[in-house]
Amino acid sequence: MRKNKEIVLGVTASVAVYKACELVRRLQDNGFGVTVVMTEDARKFIQPRLFEAVSRNRAYCGMFEETVEWDIEHVSLARKADLVLIAPATANIIAKIAAGICDDLLTCVVCATEAPVLICPAMNDRMFLNRITQANIQKLEKFGYRFVQPRKGNLACGKAGIGCLAEVDAIVKEARRLLG
Ligand SMILES: Cc1cc2nc3c(=O)[nH]c(=O)nc-3n(C[C@H](O)[C@H](O)[C@H](O)COP(=O)(O)O)c2cc1C
Repeated sequence: MRKNKEIVLGVTASVAVYKACELVRRLQDNGFGVTVVMTEDARKFIQPRLFEAVSRNRAYCGMFEETVEWDIEHVSLARKADLVLIAPATANIIAKIAAGICDDLLTCVVCATEAPVLICPAMNDRMFLNRITQANIQKLEKFGYRFVQPRKGNLACGKAGIGCLAEVDAIVKEARRLLG
């Protein structure tokens, strides 16, 4: 029997974090295994427990937490992933990946994986249009990282503009395409 494709879903500290639960379910409905890796700041918005309940799988956060089984998690997660998907992706995580920074579990997984990486930005329009953010995105695209671009909509700050997380449908469609 063919093994299910595995997605490591990186969740970062954007206000769009609540949409990641729906994304987990939709990816699972499409037959993918999903393991969530959250940043420390994402944990200030939402607890890993919720992702564990939704995904019925362990959700990872810190690099140096007590582990039940001995394993170097960033390496084993990077190896197990057929796709690393980051949704929502903050300006911060995009900048860190573009700079090759590996100071948390998610950035280490991204650096260590050989799987395709799909990034779905979500942020304020000024942050998204900021020339450094745009340069970071272009740099990552040149290295083969994939993006599902954000859409225009009502931003958390109260005005309309570009920066809203792409629709879950569009993210799932691109993940399916990358996973063949
Ligand atoms: C209420 C609130 C909402 C935020 N929303 C966003 C967002 O949508 N996109 C973004 O890039 N940063 C946002 N930030 C800033 C990030 O949380 C901050 O840069 C954080 O350090 C990112 O951490 P991470 O990339 O490690 O998850 C928000 C901060 C707060 C307090």
